Amino acid sequence: MQDSTSFEQRNKRDLPRVKINRHSVWRLLSFARPYWWQLLALTLLTMLSSTLSLAYPALTGNVIDSVIQRDVSSLQSIILFLVGLAIIQGIMGFIQTYWTTVVGERLLVDLRTKVYKHLQYLPLSFFLDNKTGELLSRLTNDVTLIRTTLTSNLLGLAQNFITLALGLFIVIAGPNALLAQANQFNLHLPTTHNTASFGPTLLVVALILLPIIILPFLISGFLRKYVKRELATLSEATAASEESIGNAKVVKAFTREEYEITRYDKLVWQQFGIILKRARLNSAVQAVTTLLSTAGLAAFLWYGGTSVLNGSLTIGTLTTIVLYITFLTRPFLSIGTLYSQFQISLGAAERIFDLLDEPVSLSDEPDALPLPTIQDHLRFEQVSFGYTKDTEVLHDISFEAQQGQVLALVGPSGAGKTTIANLIPRFFDIWNGNITVDGYDIRHVQVKSLREQIGIVLQEPVLFGTTIRENIAYGRLDATQKQIEEAARAANAHEFIELLPQSYDTLVGERGVKLSGGQRQRIAIARAILRDPRILILDEATSSLDNESESLVQQALERLMHNRTTIVIAHRLTTIQNADKIVVIEQGRILEEGNHEALLERRGAYYRLYTRKFREEQTV
Ligand SMILES: Nc1ncnc2c1ncn2[C@@H]1O[C@H](COP(=O)(O)OP(=O)(O)O)[C@@H](O)[C@H]1O
Ligand SMILES: [Mg+2]
Repeated sequence: MQDSTSFEQRNKRDLPRVKINRHSVWRLLSFARPYWWQLLALTLLTMLSSTLSLAYPALTGNVIDSVIQRDVSSLQSIILFLVGLAIIQGIMGFIQTYWTTVVGERLLVDLRTKVYKHLQYLPLSFFLDNKTGELLSRLTNDVTLIRTTLTSNLLGLAQNFITLALGLFIVIAGPNALLAQANQFNLHLPTTHNTASFGPTLLVVALILLPIIILPFLISGFLRKYVKRELATLSEATAASEESIGNAKVVKAFTREEYEITRYDKLVWQQFGIILKRARLNSAVQAVTTLLSTAGLAAFLWYGGTSVLNGSLTIGTLTTIVLYITFLTRPFLSIGTLYSQFQISLGAAERIFDLLDEPVSLSDEPDALPLPTIQDHLRFEQVSFGYTKDTEVLHDISFEAQQGQVLALVGPSGAGKTTIANLIPRFFDIWNGNITVDGYDIRHVQVKSLREQIGIVLQEPVLFGTTIRENIAYGRLDATQKQIEEAARAANAHEFIELLPQSYDTLVGERGVKLSGGQRQRIAIARAILRDPRILILDEATSSLDNESESLVQQALERLMHNRTTIVIAHRLTTIQNADKIVVIEQGRILEEGNHEALLERRGAYYRLYTRKFREEQTV
């Protein structure tokens, strides 16, 4: 239900600017700029091959007249010329098709990598607001639509305009001018037609056809609107499938297969409906176009046929003219179709531009320096923050952790503990106050240099679907096998890894699903150990584990905490009791601060939390 409303909203947002956004057009074309000379060469080639094609109608007409006049030698030379022409055009066609594909695919690679690169640097908040499947759909479907435009369609347009221009020129100058040119090469092609009034007549026919070309331009706005809707639904469908496939276990546990099928079907059918609208529009234009062009031809045939009957035109010339009309109608029709396709890509392109225009909001300040190795303290000063503009989640948070200390954040669920942790690697920017490391404001140093010194272990560790070795080495890409093993030993993971059939080369499954929670957590810890961070953040790293795994993980964590500043968000009292400093948070505010004993003596919030917890842990 929620999905359909969000889809409707998206559609509203996407409703068309029916006029062409010139900015998008230029921006789209700018992607082809690096290949301008290849495209130019292709255009020239196209021009040449179009010019050659224009000889066919004149030659065909001449064949017919030669046959009627029983002139065998002319017939032979024309046929030879035709064969030669066909060979040359075949070779040119090969180069053209192959080269267009090469340039097209290169463009696709460029576009994809550009979009992907941009995605990688978008802030975390962007990924919280957008569905994975939708983004993937843009990266694949939308990008692919654009590729065709930038090559085939662009060249096609060029080719058609050239054919049209040359065609009109030849028609006006008389087709025999072309043959006369060919005869300069001693080909002895007959150029005997009576071509008086030939050009102007054809020009009139061409003018009759002109409305055809305008039609597609009239519907272009609608086309673009439909395509955007279509791609939006496709994105929604991809997102829905990605979600249900990725969460197959939940779907099955709740036996919601049919629900998921319905959800997906609905979107697919919705897309189908939009495609139908587009198809109706296109088909109508096609029908009108065909009607008009056939009518134009019929009109000319009536005029031409009469001329043949009264002897002012030969059958060969009539054939030539009819062929030229078909030749000239084709670019008229194609220009329309290509223009429609261009609109379609423009729809896709605008969605891609939206993505590329997402600000990389946490980019470094121009004069940001790398943060030196952290030696001293981490300090929050009167920090306030909220995820959305209107809700402040953290209010006036101040605390300090000295180098080597363990600082515990405690408080009920939803208090804002994870939020505080999120601010340290600068996943989000704060509203007010300062966060400093060794006196450096984290907003003024290079984000990379800050994050490189921070290690995070989450409640639900996420692994990549590769081998255990690669997952651990994610902490430091150039780690040796020895270093990886040491990290695994320190994380209490080496023993269980050794017992696996393929040891470090075992594939862990998507997100690590083939390992138990405790095993996953110890691999995540090994990864953090290998990274050797100066500041360690443990966000309820043991809270989802059973007792046995927890003690193994706890040991591993204590080794990891050694010799660095640790911010630990924990629910077990054992971890908290030994912390150098405990900060009690409730509803985004700090209530109390101190060590275990001092806080117990105060008999305040911590005391209440402690006694309640203690009772709970006793009863378990
Ligand atoms: N991405 C988010 N967007 C909006 N609100 C959020 C987001 N993440 C957390 N919150 C809200 O911030 C508050 C604090 O959450 P959190 O820091 O995760 O609590 P804790 O870790 O202490 O359980 C909660 O009210 C939660 O609903
Ligand atoms: Mg939390």
